[in-house]
Amino acid sequence: MPVGVTLDAAPPAPYHLRKKAWQRRREPDMAATAQTPVDELDEAGARAELERLAAAIAAADEAYHRRDAPEISDAAYDALKARNAAIEARFAHLARADGPSGRVGAAPAEGFGKLRHAQRMLSLDNAFSDSDVADFVAGIRRFLSLDADAPLAFTAEPKIDGLSLSLRYEAGRLVQAATRGDGTTGEDVTANARTIRDIPAVIEGAPEVLEVRGEVYMSHADFAALNARQAEAGGKTFANPRNAAAGSLRQLDASVTAARPLRFFAYSWGTLSAPLGATQTEALARLSQLGFPVNPLTRLCPDTAAMLAAWAEIEQRRATLGYDIDGVVYKLDDLALQARLGVRSTTPRWALAHKFPAELAWTRLEAIDIQVGRTGALSPVARLQPVTVGGVVVSNATLHNEDYIAGRDSRGAPIRDGKDIRVGDWVQVYRAGDVIPKVADVDLSKRKDGSQPYEFPSKCPECGSDAVREPGDSVRRCTGGLICPAQAVERLKHFVSRAAFDIEGLGARQVEAFWRDGWIREPADIFTLEERFGSGLQQLKNREGWGEKSAANLFAAISERRRIPLARLIFALGIRHVGEVAARLLARHYGGWPAFEAAMTAIAEAPVGAESGPEWDDLLSVDGVGPVLAASLVATFRNPAERASIDRLVALLDVQPEAAPVAAASPVAGKTIVFTGTLERMSRAEAKARAEALGAKVAGSVSAKTDLVVAGPGAGSKAKKAAELGVRTIDEDGWLSLIGAG
Ligand code: IVH
Repeated sequence: MPVGVTLDAAPPAPYHLRKKAWQRRREPDMAATAQTPVDELDEAGARAELERLAAAIAAADEAYHRRDAPEISDAAYDALKARNAAIEARFAHLARADGPSGRVGAAPAEGFGKLRHAQRMLSLDNAFSDSDVADFVAGIRRFLSLDADAPLAFTAEPKIDGLSLSLRYEAGRLVQAATRGDGTTGEDVTANARTIRDIPAVIEGAPEVLEVRGEVYMSHADFAALNARQAEAGGKTFANPRNAAAGSLRQLDASVTAARPLRFFAYSWGTLSAPLGATQTEALARLSQLGFPVNPLTRLCPDTAAMLAAWAEIEQRRATLGYDIDGVVYKLDDLALQARLGVRSTTPRWALAHKFPAELAWTRLEAIDIQVGRTGALSPVARLQPVTVGGVVVSNATLHNEDYIAGRDSRGAPIRDGKDIRVGDWVQVYRAGDVIPKVADVDLSKRKDGSQPYEFPSKCPECGSDAVREPGDSVRRCTGGLICPAQAVERLKHFVSRAAFDIEGLGARQVEAFWRDGWIREPADIFTLEERFGSGLQQLKNREGWGEKSAANLFAAISERRRIPLARLIFALGIRHVGEVAARLLARHYGGWPAFEAAMTAIAEAPVGAESGPEWDDLLSVDGVGPVLAASLVATFRNPAERASIDRLVALLDVQPEAAPVAAASPVAGKTIVFTGTLERMSRAEAKARAEALGAKVAGSVSAKTDLVVAGPGAGSKAKKAAELGVRTIDEDGWLSLIGAG
């Protein structure tokens, strides 16, 4: 569309309403709000209604921003805001100072300053079984080229279910506290952290610079007492201790935090001016000496059997600890080995979270709805009779795909002994950590006579296009592409999401509202919004509860994002199989948009199925890019509508080339290296990680762009190709001396 869209465009197809039909059914209270038409309200009624709406919207904002507990649907939320705006338009003098009209979705972070972490705050890989743990240990041995009998000790610590916090001390004084945020940038909660008793304000004998990391949490007893107090005072109660801890720490008024009983356990660190010890155990002991609470159940485990025993012991004590834990974290004890292992994009190779089994409950399946995602995938969602699972009320759960509902896996083998799932059934729901609840099992003895198997739709419920299942794909997909409103909206939501364009004030909810009003149809429209509005600012101001300031802020935030790093742009395009990691790999490989675009254009010109040529070989030489990902990229650039949409977007942006790799001083910085043959002094994985840490790119195959080949014994075709192309080839010793490790 974008051309020709005006503010006066009639709202398009009732996509939003259709999508949310189930929610309207389930939210009788929302229907009630519409009972007295706005133009029939008298002044007293309007005042009362505005008061009620302000409270309801504030409550919804809070629930939403705690993310896992949204209490009403987006449609219901929008209806509240629209009604509020309509009443304010009629009774302008009644507009409340605490009303929602001046705020943009009450972005929670607005009041907090942002802090960039000097060292990224990492998350953890998860394990769910003993064999996952054994694989983890075996992987570490392989990476470090250690024999199976070489000693290798790990710590086992409870995984606290709270929120992580990084505390920076300089000269023994707490100078900064930041939440994890996206790992790179968090919120400045220094004033709040100072009110937590477990966190010392001053420490003695610490390194000059010390960043202590750990978990803020609330005990069960404190949580229950807080909720009781809140209920008595008519305030907001919390769904579980973690939400209570998060809500309490992230209070703009630190005196509120002070009145909330938050606790802290230290388990890790960031920047240090001097090491805390040589092992995790020593470092924790040192933190404890400095006055930080360290979890008393931490164990040192000499082998995998001891790790599993520690896990079992901690699980057994779980119910009596008095605070929530959701697993056990294993960490390689030796910090020098940790450093050799390094980190993947967001998780360390030397640590693992071994989760406890999920919590379960039985409830009735009331309906199965189909949601259409940004890649067209039709995802069945179970609408459940609400049930409490591990302290959280669950009313929706994923049903994965049509095979899962039918009781078979993707290869046709039975799951749940082949039992299918039907509307009206009693089903078992479980939650594993923070992930979306799942339906695990069905109780056939409670199945009603005459129930019918669920028939999975073969048409997209949003646009009516055929929904087809490609061979080898476990999901059915809408073939509507950009004409499917659901796909288009989901793509826009992905586009503005945190790891993509991350536009402050333009979240999923605003995207839906703008879509509904016909203002934004594709990413490029976001960047022409202000210009199309022009003096229409006034119109924006009158709708959806936007104030002049919030509208101006939104335009400023959009404008700020015109300068965008290449990796974020590639990720934001929402191409199937191109996640954050792949986007970063592509950005590093091509360096800038012109090179990326030229390569995609060249490949896209080849006939389908006959991709070849130097650009194609070059794309496949990127380590981490396989044929599936490559084919998906090319399909996007081949599709004229997609291509035009990308061109319109990029024309409005200032795409930042990928920054030069770090450690520019290293002899391999910026070079493309291929490892081949057997390496004897370090594993292939370690060699690759080392090369990347020194700023090199590691490719999977040799091409004219390869700068260096490291060939061990047994090197075959790659070494041969390198010789043909005249690419410099060295052996492992040569490699080690090149990087100064020889
Ligand atoms: S270590 C370098 N240890 O779990 C690794 N994390 O799922 C950083 N967590 O973001 C984390 N207890 O918020 C570590 N004993 C523990 C933990 C723990 C809880 C949290 C932490 C982290 C999340 C990852």
